[in-house]
Amino acid sequence: MSRSSVTVRAPAKINLHLGVGAPRADGYHPLHTVYQAVGLCDDVTVSRSPGWTLGVTVPDWMDEGALPGPGDNIVDRAARLLADLHGIEPKAEVRIAKSIPVAGGMAGGSADAAAALVALDRLWGVDTTDDDLLRIAAQLGSDVPFALHGGTAAGTGRGEVVEPVQDDQTWWWVLVPSRVGLSTPAVYARFDELNPGASSEPPAPSDLLDAIASGGVHQLAEALHNDLQPATLDLRPELADVIDAGEQAGALRGLVSGSGPTVALLCDGVDDARAVAGALGESHHGVVLVANGPVAGAHVVTYA
Ligand code: C5P
Repeated sequence: MSRSSVTVRAPAKINLHLGVGAPRADGYHPLHTVYQAVGLCDDVTVSRSPGWTLGVTVPDWMDEGALPGPGDNIVDRAARLLADLHGIEPKAEVRIAKSIPVAGGMAGGSADAAAALVALDRLWGVDTTDDDLLRIAAQLGSDVPFALHGGTAAGTGRGEVVEPVQDDQTWWWVLVPSRVGLSTPAVYARFDELNPGASSEPPAPSDLLDAIASGGVHQLAEALHNDLQPATLDLRPELADVIDAGEQAGALRGLVSGSGPTVALLCDGVDDARAVAGALGESHHGVVLVANGPVAGAHVVTYA
């Protein structure tokens, strides 16, 4: 059934484990990752329209200048791929309300793409199969299939091959975004310079998966792992101070989220997360957010 307007919400991700191998022939890096979707979400609203328009709103703290220009948004590409699959013209008025940092290592663009695929599928009433949605998602970007899945999940390949992981806990995070984002390719390029002898087989997430299965937050804190972190800290040394400040304020462990520059601090429950966020908010002079995970992947919040 087609609709006149649909809003779909999609979550940010943190990589609980990001094992990176030497670049493949196609330039991508083989990954063993464990994603977690957290409750910091972008909303994509699509409405019936005679043409194609795309507008983006961002909160004050975000750098609007970092957004892609007209026609370049991953959502433009998502719409074209979905419309081509069904042999129709991509027509919609699209509004993206961002809360996920732009170029922040939290897969905000991927969340927008996943949300747009689900929203446009409903708006156009085209009944895309899950397999087709996941295939288009993988074409759009390495993290887009996970943004459809949500929850906690293992990622292999270049990140696009996603298997759900049983995760019965609610984990609490303090997130510290930076106003100025980082280019993911630049971070991977620095990783290559710092790791000339990297193995083609990325480090496996067995400790991390054991920690999730145990349900213990201290075990999870110890198992958090990000192979990109040294490269990110090399490009942005000041992020080490944010991690230190968070851990001194009571977080169990801080790490760079994906390629960064957002810092994610794992806390022992909601009260500790609020306390850490409060302490960092006073010392850090920037934005500090609290979110829990795992949360759902791209899902409809409003139909009209
Ligand atoms: O897949 P996606 O378009 O999100 O990737 C953005 C960039 O990040 C790629 O062009 C590549 O430089 C880098 N990347 C990588 N290996 C991966 C995922 C991303 O080198 N597994």
